[in-house]
Amino acid sequence: MSNSSKRILVTGGAGFIGSHLIDRLMAEGHEVICLDNFFTGRKHNLVHWLDNHNFELVRHDITEPIRLEVDRIYHLACPASPVHYQYNPVKTIKTNVMGTLNMLGLAKRVKARFLLASTSEVYGDPEVHPQPETYRGNVNTIGIRSCYDEGKRVAETLAFDYHRQNNVDIRVARIFNTYGPRMLENDGRVVSNFAVQALRGIPLTVYGDGSQTRSFCFVSDLVDGLMKLMEGDCLGPVNLGNPDEYTILELAQKIQAMVNPEAAIQFKPLPQDDPRRRQPDISLAKARLGWSPTVPLAEGLKRTVEDFQQRIEGVSPLVAAS
Ligand SMILES: NC(=O)c1ccc[n+]([C@@H]2O[C@H](COP(=O)([O-])OP(=O)(O)OC[C@H]3O[C@@H](n4cnc5c(N)ncnc54)[C@H](O)[C@@H]3O)[C@@H](O)[C@H]2O)c1
Repeated sequence: MSNSSKRILVTGGAGFIGSHLIDRLMAEGHEVICLDNFFTGRKHNLVHWLDNHNFELVRHDITEPIRLEVDRIYHLACPASPVHYQYNPVKTIKTNVMGTLNMLGLAKRVKARFLLASTSEVYGDPEVHPQPETYRGNVNTIGIRSCYDEGKRVAETLAFDYHRQNNVDIRVARIFNTYGPRMLENDGRVVSNFAVQALRGIPLTVYGDGSQTRSFCFVSDLVDGLMKLMEGDCLGPVNLGNPDEYTILELAQKIQAMVNPEAAIQFKPLPQDDPRRRQPDISLAKARLGWSPTVPLAEGLKRTVEDFQQRIEGVSPLVAAS
Protein backbone atom coordinates (compact mmCIF):
# COMPACT_ATOMS: atom_id res chain seq x y z
CA MET A 1 0.00 0.00 0.00
CA SER A 2 1.18 3.54 -0.74
CA ASN A 3 1.72 6.16 1.99
CA SER A 4 -1.48 7.97 1.05
CA SER A 5 -3.58 4.85 1.47
CA LYS A 6 -6.05 4.97 4.32
CA ARG A 7 -8.18 2.63 6.38
CA ILE A 8 -11.72 3.44 5.36
CA LEU A 9 -15.01 2.28 6.86
CA VAL A 10 -18.06 2.21 4.59
CA THR A 11 -21.36 1.60 6.39
CA GLY A 12 -24.01 0.21 4.04
CA GLY A 13 -21.19 -0.80 1.70
CA ALA A 14 -23.02 -3.85 0.35
CA GLY A 15 -25.78 -1.63 -1.05
CA PHE A 16 -26.12 0.08 -4.40
CA ILE A 17 -24.04 3.27 -3.91
CA GLY A 18 -21.79 1.81 -1.20
CA SER A 19 -20.58 -1.07 -3.36
CA HIS A 20 -19.64 1.29 -6.21
CA LEU A 21 -17.83 3.51 -3.70
CA ILE A 22 -15.93 0.47 -2.39
CA ASP A 23 -14.93 -0.45 -5.97
CA ARG A 24 -13.33 2.98 -6.36
CA LEU A 25 -11.65 2.98 -2.92
CA MET A 26 -10.23 -0.51 -3.45
CA ALA A 27 -8.98 0.43 -6.92
CA GLU A 28 -7.11 3.35 -5.30
CA GLY A 29 -5.32 0.93 -2.94
CA HIS A 30 -7.08 1.76 0.33
CA GLU A 31 -7.87 -0.70 3.10
CA VAL A 32 -11.67 -0.94 3.27
CA ILE A 33 -13.96 -2.28 5.97
CA CYS A 34 -17.62 -2.67 5.02
CA LEU A 35 -20.31 -2.86 7.72
CA ASP A 36 -23.71 -4.04 6.55
CA ASN A 37 -26.72 -5.89 7.97
CA PHE A 38 -27.73 -6.99 4.43
CA PHE A 39 -31.25 -5.59 4.73
CA THR A 40 -31.12 -4.14 1.21
CA GLY A 41 -27.47 -4.86 0.46
CA ARG A 42 -26.09 -8.03 -1.09
CA LYS A 43 -22.81 -9.86 -0.63
CA HIS A 44 -22.92 -10.43 -4.36
CA ASN A 45 -22.20 -6.71 -4.93
CA LEU A 46 -18.80 -7.17 -3.26
CA VAL A 47 -18.01 -10.76 -4.22
CA HIS A 48 -15.07 -9.63 -6.38
CA TRP A 49 -13.27 -8.19 -3.30
CA LEU A 50 -13.87 -10.98 -0.81
CA ASP A 51 -10.46 -12.60 -1.37
CA ASN A 52 -8.55 -9.30 -1.35
CA HIS A 53 -6.46 -8.83 1.82
CA ASN A 54 -7.24 -5.08 1.81
CA PHE A 55 -10.96 -5.79 2.15
CA GLU A 56 -13.06 -6.86 5.14
CA LEU A 57 -16.81 -7.48 5.13
CA VAL A 58 -18.48 -7.42 8.56
CA ARG A 59 -22.13 -8.32 9.11
CA HIS A 60 -23.15 -5.69 11.65
CA ASP A 61 -26.22 -3.61 12.43
CA ILE A 62 -25.12 -0.03 13.03
CA THR A 63 -27.82 0.50 15.65
CA GLU A 64 -25.33 -1.45 17.83
CA PRO A 65 -22.00 0.22 18.69
CA ILE A 66 -18.73 -1.15 17.29
CA ARG A 67 -15.06 -0.38 17.92
CA LEU A 68 -12.71 -0.14 14.95
CA GLU A 69 -9.57 1.81 14.06
CA VAL A 70 -10.19 3.82 10.89
CA ASP A 71 -9.18 7.14 9.27
CA ARG A 72 -12.35 7.77 7.29
CA ILE A 73 -16.02 6.83 7.71
CA TYR A 74 -18.40 6.96 4.78
CA HIS A 75 -21.75 6.59 6.53
CA LEU A 76 -24.24 5.25 3.98
CA ALA A 77 -26.15 2.59 5.95
CA CYS A 78 -29.89 3.23 5.62
CA PRO A 79 -32.48 1.79 3.25
CA ALA A 80 -32.97 4.41 0.55
CA SER A 81 -36.09 3.50 -1.37
CA PRO A 82 -39.60 4.08 0.04
CA VAL A 83 -40.65 0.41 -0.20
CA HIS A 84 -37.70 -0.56 1.97
CA TYR A 85 -37.59 2.34 4.44
CA GLN A 86 -41.36 2.11 4.98
CA TYR A 87 -41.21 -1.66 5.56
CA ASN A 88 -40.16 -1.03 9.18
CA PRO A 89 -40.32 2.73 9.77
CA VAL A 90 -39.27 2.53 13.43
CA LYS A 91 -36.15 0.62 12.37
CA THR A 92 -35.45 3.28 9.73
CA ILE A 93 -35.52 5.99 12.40
CA LYS A 94 -33.31 3.87 14.66
CA THR A 95 -30.80 3.39 11.85
CA ASN A 96 -30.71 7.12 11.15
CA VAL A 97 -30.58 8.27 14.76
CA MET A 98 -28.88 5.51 16.80
CA GLY A 99 -26.80 4.31 13.85
CA THR A 100 -25.54 7.83 13.11
CA LEU A 101 -24.87 8.44 16.82
CA ASN A 102 -22.81 5.25 16.96
CA MET A 103 -20.79 6.17 13.90
CA LEU A 104 -20.20 9.75 15.07
CA GLY A 105 -19.15 8.37 18.46
CA LEU A 106 -16.66 6.13 16.67
CA ALA A 107 -15.38 9.05 14.57
CA LYS A 108 -14.89 11.10 17.75
CA ARG A 109 -13.05 8.29 19.54
CA VAL A 110 -10.60 7.44 16.75
CA LYS A 111 -10.45 10.97 15.21
CA ALA A 112 -11.72 9.74 11.86
CA ARG A 113 -13.21 12.06 9.26
CA PHE A 114 -16.94 11.31 8.93
CA LEU A 115 -19.09 11.74 5.81
CA LEU A 116 -22.86 11.51 6.08
CA ALA A 117 -24.87 10.38 3.06
CA SER A 118 -27.86 12.66 3.56
CA THR A 119 -30.54 13.19 0.99
CA SER A 120 -32.49 15.69 -1.07
CA GLU A 121 -35.51 14.37 0.87
CA VAL A 122 -34.52 16.80 3.65
CA TYR A 123 -36.08 19.45 1.36
CA GLY A 124 -39.41 17.59 1.49
CA ASP A 125 -41.89 18.85 -1.11
CA PRO A 126 -39.87 21.96 -2.00
CA GLU A 127 -41.36 25.40 -2.67
CA VAL A 128 -38.04 26.60 -4.19
CA HIS A 129 -36.56 25.42 -7.51
CA PRO A 130 -33.87 24.35 -7.93
CA GLN A 131 -33.02 23.70 -4.29
CA PRO A 132 -29.88 25.37 -2.89
CA GLU A 133 -28.35 24.09 0.36
CA THR A 134 -29.66 27.18 2.17
CA TYR A 135 -33.29 26.13 1.53
CA ARG A 136 -34.65 24.74 4.80
CA GLY A 137 -37.25 22.43 3.32
CA ASN A 138 -40.93 21.66 3.53
CA VAL A 139 -41.16 18.31 5.31
CA ASN A 140 -44.20 16.61 6.78
CA THR A 141 -43.26 15.44 10.28
CA ILE A 142 -46.01 12.80 10.49
CA GLY A 143 -46.24 11.39 6.97
CA ILE A 144 -45.19 7.96 5.76
CA ARG A 145 -41.89 9.33 4.37
CA SER A 146 -41.02 11.10 7.64
CA CYS A 147 -39.09 8.15 9.13
CA TYR A 148 -36.58 8.71 6.33
CA ASP A 149 -36.79 12.49 5.74
CA GLU A 150 -36.83 13.46 9.40
CA GLY A 151 -34.35 10.68 10.22
CA LYS A 152 -31.86 12.20 7.80
CA ARG A 153 -32.55 15.70 9.12
CA VAL A 154 -31.70 14.50 12.63
CA ALA A 155 -28.60 12.74 11.26
CA GLU A 156 -27.43 16.08 9.79
CA THR A 157 -28.11 17.81 13.11
CA LEU A 158 -26.10 15.16 14.96
CA ALA A 159 -23.18 15.56 12.55
CA PHE A 160 -23.06 19.33 13.06
CA ASP A 161 -23.46 19.05 16.84
CA TYR A 162 -20.61 16.53 17.06
CA HIS A 163 -18.57 18.94 14.96
CA ARG A 164 -19.33 21.99 17.13
CA GLN A 165 -19.17 20.19 20.47
CA ASN A 166 -16.46 17.56 19.90
CA ASN A 167 -14.52 18.86 16.88
CA VAL A 168 -15.43 15.81 14.79
CA ASP A 169 -14.28 16.44 11.23
CA ILE A 170 -17.52 16.07 9.26
CA ARG A 171 -18.73 16.23 5.67
CA VAL A 172 -22.41 16.18 4.71
CA ALA A 173 -23.62 15.26 1.21
CA ARG A 174 -27.24 15.78 0.18
CA ILE A 175 -27.67 13.14 -2.47
CA PHE A 176 -30.33 13.48 -5.16
CA ASN A 177 -31.85 10.55 -7.13
CA THR A 178 -29.04 8.26 -8.18
CA TYR A 179 -29.31 5.33 -10.56
CA GLY A 180 -27.09 2.69 -12.11
CA PRO A 181 -26.16 -0.99 -12.14
CA ARG A 182 -26.88 -2.96 -8.91
CA MET A 183 -30.11 -1.14 -8.07
CA LEU A 184 -32.55 -3.67 -6.69
CA GLU A 185 -35.24 -4.88 -9.08
CA ASN A 186 -37.94 -4.54 -6.43
CA ASP A 187 -36.96 -1.18 -4.94
CA GLY A 188 -39.94 0.63 -6.45
CA ARG A 189 -37.70 3.48 -7.66
CA VAL A 190 -38.73 4.94 -10.94
CA VAL A 191 -35.70 3.92 -13.03
CA SER A 192 -35.72 0.33 -11.79
CA ASN A 193 -39.51 0.10 -12.13
CA PHE A 194 -39.49 1.26 -15.75
CA ALA A 195 -36.43 -0.81 -16.72
CA VAL A 196 -37.79 -4.02 -15.19
CA GLN A 197 -41.31 -3.46 -16.58
CA ALA A 198 -39.99 -2.75 -20.08
CA LEU A 199 -37.68 -5.78 -19.98
CA ARG A 200 -40.56 -8.00 -18.85
CA GLY A 201 -42.83 -6.54 -21.52
CA ILE A 202 -45.45 -5.34 -19.00
CA PRO A 203 -46.90 -1.80 -18.92
CA LEU A 204 -44.68 0.95 -17.48
CA THR A 205 -46.45 2.44 -14.43
CA VAL A 206 -46.55 6.24 -14.30
CA TYR A 207 -48.01 7.73 -11.10
CA GLY A 208 -50.17 10.81 -11.61
CA ASP A 209 -50.05 12.35 -15.09
CA GLY A 210 -46.25 11.98 -15.26
CA SER A 211 -45.65 15.74 -15.31
CA GLN A 212 -43.78 15.64 -11.95
CA THR A 213 -40.05 16.04 -12.54
CA ARG A 214 -36.92 14.38 -11.19
CA SER A 215 -33.20 14.63 -11.86
CA PHE A 216 -31.12 11.49 -12.22
CA CYS A 217 -27.43 11.18 -11.37
CA PHE A 218 -25.42 8.21 -12.62
CA VAL A 219 -23.75 6.35 -9.76
CA SER A 220 -20.14 6.81 -10.98
CA ASP A 221 -20.64 10.59 -10.98
CA LEU A 222 -22.12 10.47 -7.49
CA VAL A 223 -19.25 8.37 -6.11
CA ASP A 224 -16.81 10.85 -7.61
CA GLY A 225 -18.62 13.67 -5.78
CA LEU A 226 -18.62 11.80 -2.46
CA MET A 227 -14.86 11.18 -2.69
CA LYS A 228 -14.12 14.81 -3.63
CA LEU A 229 -16.23 15.97 -0.69
CA MET A 230 -14.46 13.60 1.72
CA GLU A 231 -10.99 14.70 0.66
CA GLY A 232 -11.78 18.42 0.25
CA ASP A 233 -12.14 21.14 2.88
CA CYS A 234 -15.85 21.90 2.48
CA LEU A 235 -18.00 20.51 5.32
CA GLY A 236 -21.28 20.97 3.52
CA PRO A 237 -24.08 20.28 3.38
CA VAL A 238 -23.40 19.99 -0.35
CA ASN A 239 -25.95 18.96 -2.96
CA LEU A 240 -24.74 16.13 -5.19
CA GLY A 241 -26.98 15.35 -8.11
CA ASN A 242 -27.53 15.90 -11.78
CA PRO A 243 -29.43 19.14 -12.46
CA ASP A 244 -30.86 17.94 -15.80
CA GLU A 245 -34.58 17.74 -15.10
CA TYR A 246 -36.93 15.26 -16.81
CA THR A 247 -40.61 14.58 -16.36
CA ILE A 248 -41.45 11.07 -15.23
CA LEU A 249 -43.36 10.59 -18.48
CA GLU A 250 -40.26 11.58 -20.50
CA LEU A 251 -38.22 9.03 -18.56
CA ALA A 252 -40.81 6.32 -19.19
CA GLN A 253 -40.78 7.12 -22.89
CA LYS A 254 -36.95 7.05 -23.07
CA ILE A 255 -36.79 3.63 -21.42
CA GLN A 256 -39.70 2.38 -23.50
CA ALA A 257 -37.95 3.46 -26.71
CA MET A 258 -34.62 1.97 -25.58
CA VAL A 259 -35.87 -1.38 -24.33
CA ASN A 260 -39.27 -2.25 -25.67
CA PRO A 261 -41.27 0.13 -27.90
CA GLU A 262 -44.15 -2.37 -27.69
CA ALA A 263 -44.55 -1.91 -23.90
CA ALA A 264 -47.54 0.23 -22.90
CA ILE A 265 -47.53 3.15 -20.44
CA GLN A 266 -50.16 2.91 -17.68
CA PHE A 267 -51.23 5.78 -15.36
CA LYS A 268 -52.01 5.25 -11.62
CA PRO A 269 -52.89 7.64 -8.74
CA LEU A 270 -50.03 9.57 -7.09
CA PRO A 271 -48.88 8.21 -3.68
CA GLN A 272 -49.03 10.39 -0.54
CA ASP A 273 -46.37 13.12 -0.15
CA ASP A 274 -44.84 12.53 -3.57
CA PRO A 275 -42.85 15.70 -4.38
CA ARG A 276 -43.89 17.54 -7.57
CA ARG A 277 -40.43 18.69 -8.52
CA ARG A 278 -36.93 17.90 -7.39
CA GLN A 279 -33.83 19.44 -8.94
CA PRO A 280 -30.46 20.17 -7.33
CA ASP A 281 -28.70 23.49 -7.41
CA ILE A 282 -25.09 22.24 -7.63
CA SER A 283 -23.33 25.64 -7.67
CA LEU A 284 -21.68 24.89 -4.32
CA ALA A 285 -20.36 21.49 -5.44
CA LYS A 286 -19.01 23.08 -8.63
CA ALA A 287 -17.30 25.94 -6.78
CA ARG A 288 -15.99 24.10 -3.70
CA LEU A 289 -15.38 20.57 -5.01
CA GLY A 290 -14.80 21.26 -8.70
CA TRP A 291 -17.45 18.60 -9.29
CA SER A 292 -20.25 18.25 -11.78
CA PRO A 293 -21.80 15.13 -13.32
CA THR A 294 -20.53 13.95 -16.71
CA VAL A 295 -22.55 10.85 -17.67
CA PRO A 296 -25.52 11.71 -19.94
CA LEU A 297 -28.89 10.12 -19.10
CA ALA A 298 -29.00 8.04 -22.31
CA GLU A 299 -25.61 6.46 -21.56
CA GLY A 300 -26.35 5.85 -17.88
CA LEU A 301 -29.73 4.31 -18.70
CA LYS A 302 -28.12 2.00 -21.25
CA ARG A 303 -25.63 0.70 -18.66
CA THR A 304 -28.38 0.33 -16.06
CA VAL A 305 -30.74 -1.51 -18.37
CA GLU A 306 -27.93 -3.86 -19.48
CA ASP A 307 -27.28 -4.76 -15.84
CA PHE A 308 -30.98 -5.44 -15.19
CA GLN A 309 -31.10 -7.45 -18.38
CA GLN A 310 -28.28 -9.71 -17.19
CA ARG A 311 -30.13 -10.31 -13.91
CA ILE A 312 -33.55 -10.94 -15.39
CA GLU A 313 -33.72 -14.18 -17.26
CA GLY A 314 -35.69 -14.83 -20.39
CA VAL A 315 -35.83 -11.28 -21.71
CA SER A 316 -35.32 -10.20 -25.26
CA PRO A 317 -32.15 -8.21 -26.06
CA LEU A 318 -32.18 -4.43 -26.11
CA VAL A 319 -34.00 -3.21 -29.16
CA ALA A 320 -32.48 0.20 -29.74
CA ALA A 321 -29.54 0.45 -27.39
CA SER A 322 -26.66 0.05 -29.84
N1 LIG B 1 -29.89 6.01 -4.15
C1 LIG B 1 -30.30 7.24 -4.05
O1 LIG B 1 -30.87 7.79 -5.01
C2 LIG B 1 -30.05 8.04 -2.79
C3 LIG B 1 -30.52 9.35 -2.74
C4 LIG B 1 -30.30 10.08 -1.56
C5 LIG B 1 -29.62 9.55 -0.51
N2 LIG B 1 -29.17 8.28 -0.59
C6 LIG B 1 -28.48 7.73 0.60
O2 LIG B 1 -27.32 7.01 0.22
C7 LIG B 1 -27.15 5.88 1.06
C8 LIG B 1 -27.01 4.62 0.23
O3 LIG B 1 -28.19 4.47 -0.58
P1 LIG B 1 -28.35 3.27 -1.60
O4 LIG B 1 -29.16 3.75 -2.72
O5 LIG B 1 -27.03 2.63 -1.87
O6 LIG B 1 -29.29 2.31 -0.73
P2 LIG B 1 -29.20 0.75 -0.44
O7 LIG B 1 -30.45 0.38 0.24
O8 LIG B 1 -28.81 0.02 -1.68
O9 LIG B 1 -27.98 0.67 0.58
C9 LIG B 1 -28.11 0.84 1.96
C10 LIG B 1 -27.25 -0.20 2.64
O10 LIG B 1 -27.33 -0.02 4.06
C11 LIG B 1 -27.53 -1.28 4.68
N3 LIG B 1 -28.21 -1.04 5.95
C12 LIG B 1 -29.47 -0.55 6.15
N4 LIG B 1 -29.74 -0.45 7.46
C13 LIG B 1 -28.62 -0.89 8.11
C14 LIG B 1 -28.29 -1.02 9.48
N5 LIG B 1 -29.15 -0.72 10.45
N6 LIG B 1 -27.05 -1.51 9.77
C15 LIG B 1 -26.18 -1.84 8.81
N7 LIG B 1 -26.45 -1.72 7.50
C16 LIG B 1 -27.65 -1.26 7.15
C17 LIG B 1 -28.35 -2.07 3.67
O11 LIG B 1 -28.29 -3.45 3.85
C18 LIG B 1 -27.71 -1.62 2.36
O12 LIG B 1 -26.59 -2.40 2.01
C19 LIG B 1 -28.35 5.86 2.01
O13 LIG B 1 -27.97 6.44 3.24
C20 LIG B 1 -29.37 6.73 1.33
O14 LIG B 1 -30.21 7.35 2.25
C21 LIG B 1 -29.38 7.50 -1.70
